Amino acid sequence: MPDAPPIVPAANPYLRGNFAPVADELTAFDLPVTGALPPGLTGTYLRNGPNPLAPPDDHHWFTGAGMLHGVRLEDGHARWYRSRFVRTERLAAARPDLAAAGGAPEPSGRSTGSNTAVLAHHGGVFALSEPATLPHRIGPELASLGRDDFGGALTRLGMNAHPRIDPATGELFALGYGGRPWLRLHHLDAAGQLVAAIDIDLPTPTIVHDLAITARHVLIFDLPLHLDLPRAMRGVPYPIVWRPEAGGRIGVLPRTATDASAIQWVPCPPRFVYHAANAFDDGDAIVVDVVTHASQGLRDRVGPFDGPTPLERWRVEPLAGRTTTVVVDERHTEFPTIDPRRVGRPYRRAYGVALHDVGGPDFRYGGLRGYDLATGAVVTHDEGPGVHFDEGVFVPAHPQAAEDEGHVLAFAWDRARDRSELVVLDASDLAGPAIARVALPTRVPHGFHGAWIPR
Ligand SMILES: [Fe+2]
Repeated sequence: MPDAPPIVPAANPYLRGNFAPVADELTAFDLPVTGALPPGLTGTYLRNGPNPLAPPDDHHWFTGAGMLHGVRLEDGHARWYRSRFVRTERLAAARPDLAAAGGAPEPSGRSTGSNTAVLAHHGGVFALSEPATLPHRIGPELASLGRDDFGGALTRLGMNAHPRIDPATGELFALGYGGRPWLRLHHLDAAGQLVAAIDIDLPTPTIVHDLAITARHVLIFDLPLHLDLPRAMRGVPYPIVWRPEAGGRIGVLPRTATDASAIQWVPCPPRFVYHAANAFDDGDAIVVDVVTHASQGLRDRVGPFDGPTPLERWRVEPLAGRTTTVVVDERHTEFPTIDPRRVGRPYRRAYGVALHDVGGPDFRYGGLRGYDLATGAVVTHDEGPGVHFDEGVFVPAHPQAAEDEGHVLAFAWDRARDRSELVVLDASDLAGPAIARVALPTRVPHGFHGAWIPR
């Protein structure tokens, strides 16, 4: 069957406005700050995203070359901004002046843009990719130091973009996928040593972007967004097919498992979940908060935004064999984040990007939302229709700080000036004015995921 023609508006929305790539890498020192940066906020804010080189008209947003954008904060000053491509083979093929960094052999055999996320674990900082490949080690000034298989711990497959780190133990759970069996769950200790590599065979090659952990369990999302193998064989960049009739299910696996025999599959609604905010055990049930998509690839053939994207709370009940859902907030959001000290535990605060007109002609990013999951209250930090925020990252004020005692950091693009800033918000007064803004010498294109690297 021939490919359906891509539904691309007159101009691809993921090549317009702040989705458009920037021309090249930049370095700038001693950036102007408005307001006051907290002196204790010392570290590097680092974010990954796609920056396509010579994209075709039907360019898919997920496929651009990875570019890291970093801002170094130190003792109340913004020391530098740097943007750097991740030096993959795919980048080097398009830009021979940007040599690949090499490193450990890639078990999947593929080279991606490594454009999706940033991971800090066992003393290293890594750029991560969707689809799964080996992480690329990144230096303190954003240089690519090569692919890293964590001393051989990442066996057979690398990891995709959403590993989860247990805040109490430092253990890391990460999924790789590809081949047969389709999934491999890597369970690593805080030192990056392999505890277990668990193969999980799914009936159909399935897109699995995120996973969730609780104090006792790992949750695997098996949702009806399948790999379209014939189109994959033809080299279509994001070859997916939406098959809601296949249903959805969540695999619940004890964290202590060493193989997949203990996995319990629990039916769930046939919606797609790119991102879970968090999950926790609640007696025999598991609560997981997710941003849901009712379909994929039906309206938006070049990105993920088919239609509404509410935040929902799913209650997964393995004993009863069911998942019940409630809408936390029906307004569109994506890129949910939380206090990293609450991963896998009961929690109260989540953050998300306010999206407008998802699936419509005026689709755009807006402000940042703050969810109080105890009261249901939602606040929005909104700077008007011309300011567009990316994912917010929460940084606690100090190790013993309360859940909303700290700052939310995000890049925001000012459409009129065509420049971006790093905006620092008080998490306990998210809707209030920013406490500091760092002016950047460029626009930072809308990207995917970031991290705060302390010190
Ligand atoms: Fe993601």
